[in-house]
Amino acid sequence: MSTQSQQPMNKREILERKKAESLVGGGEDRIKSQHSKGKLTARERLHFLLDEGSFNEVGAFVMHRSNDFGMEKQRFLGDGVVTGYGTINGRLVYVFSQDFTVFGGSLSETHAEKICKIMDLALKNGAPVIGLNDSGGARIQEGVVSLGGYADIFYRNTIASGVIPQLSAIMGPCAGGAVYSPAITDFIGMVENTSYMFVTGPNVVKTVTNEEVTSEQLGGASVHSSKSGVSHFSYANEIECLSGLKALLSYMPQNCEEKAPALNYQMADEKREVLKDIVPDNANQPYDMREVIDGIVDEGSFLEVHKNFAENIVVGFARLAGRSIGIIANNPAFLAGVLDVHSSTKGARFVRFCDAFNIPLLVLEDVPGFLPGTDQEWNAIITNGAKLLYAFSEATVPRVTVITRKAYGGAYDVMNSKHIGADMNFAWPGAEIAVMGAKGAAEIIFKKEITNAENPELAWKEKEAEYAEKFANPYRAAERGFIDEVIMPEQTRQKLISSFKMLENKVANLPKKKHGNIPL
Ligand code: HXC
Repeated sequence: MSTQSQQPMNKREILERKKAESLVGGGEDRIKSQHSKGKLTARERLHFLLDEGSFNEVGAFVMHRSNDFGMEKQRFLGDGVVTGYGTINGRLVYVFSQDFTVFGGSLSETHAEKICKIMDLALKNGAPVIGLNDSGGARIQEGVVSLGGYADIFYRNTIASGVIPQLSAIMGPCAGGAVYSPAITDFIGMVENTSYMFVTGPNVVKTVTNEEVTSEQLGGASVHSSKSGVSHFSYANEIECLSGLKALLSYMPQNCEEKAPALNYQMADEKREVLKDIVPDNANQPYDMREVIDGIVDEGSFLEVHKNFAENIVVGFARLAGRSIGIIANNPAFLAGVLDVHSSTKGARFVRFCDAFNIPLLVLEDVPGFLPGTDQEWNAIITNGAKLLYAFSEATVPRVTVITRKAYGGAYDVMNSKHIGADMNFAWPGAEIAVMGAKGAAEIIFKKEITNAENPELAWKEKEAEYAEKFANPYRAAERGFIDEVIMPEQTRQKLISSFKMLENKVANLPKKKHGNIPL
């Protein structure tokens, strides 16, 4: 299917080629080569992603301009990427889908220009961009113009950040500097066993560090969705991935000037008895905060983000009476729900996405504090914890917190406390809001009494109980107005629906500035 550059094609030839290539990105063999790897072709992916018949291709006739290394004899229509626009559930989106069957989906000058063109259109017209990545990276034959093409894309990713949602699916290789475009986008989904992302591949790793590692071990979907957190979603196959992107999009507005679409909702009895029995009586016993989330939100509406990464915090989208909300929740089922380096950055990034796109925030809090130890300190828990604090503090969307059990120490402040701008703060009756746990607190402030007591163990217990009665409850905080209301668990959904309704026209402006300096 190559075209000799020296002999320009006539109109009929061009149309015939376009017809042949438009079905599959070129030829039966190419389809087979993709399918044999468990992958769809670039066009098949768009077919599954977009509403039927809605795709409009832009730049189908573009071909590369390179004349080096025999490239003049191999020119393919579209140059390895299918670009255009269409709709998903009736909403406009801009898309690009890299075609691995053409030079390994590698990025040439013209391939980059095509992507930039649709990104520019997306930005001007205020609609999301979805990139389906399947590429061997910079087109090696083109040298620096290909590198320049990447930088043109990175620049646009950055300028569009916070203006329009940008989603990336990794559906094949994504290596070298190419990883930085998806990395700047808002969400990355990867397909298990057929996609990988790394800055330097296994061969370079072996040469430089003598470490033997496969592509999958180095940068496969499971690694990036659980260890590094680079990927927000890991899907079993490409169809799941494309369906996942569609679902994700349904919670977002088209751009930062709009609100996310709301579903029709008929109010009924919003009491949820199931919430009464989730938190165990014993404060040291774990429970899964996802059960609380499921009990609060519209049935089946919770879409978890970063599910397998930093599981001590749960983040994701849901609907409450039909409206999109973003949830950030400590999860006592993992590491007792402590805040650490990874959970702080995970939470912060999610808060900033929601704030950028007018999605109200719900915080469910059960946090014993920050994780102590050299590992955390040496990995900058100070800087990383500050990210979460900063992200909440600067968020101007409606913000509501429910303390289900523990709210201790600095973590109380960080987790969307009243003091950093939350609008409504609720606590369940069993909430413990204090500087630290009663046992540790008693040991420090009653040290002398305990040491001098006839039975120090008993004295410690008594002092612990005394402290707990005084401080380890929600009423001290409620007295001060730091908690607006102590509510019964089963009332939570009702209270949240009316709070978010009350806050729906909230306007909060930050002081004029170029931009803040989040502790990165
Ligand atoms: C040109 C490329 C290419 C590339 C693959 N191909 N990568 N052509 N530039 N970057 C071509 C191959 O020559 C081959 O052509 C076809 O695509 C399929 O490639 P295979 O190697 O046969 O496929 P596979 O075995 O599946 O291996 C895929 C791969 C491998 C792992 C991606 O092709 C590979 O390692 N490619 C090079 C990756 C790389 O180093 N890229 C540069 C990264 S640096 P034929 O004609 O034989 O079918 C970079 C810098 C960006 O991207 C910087 C931005 C700041």
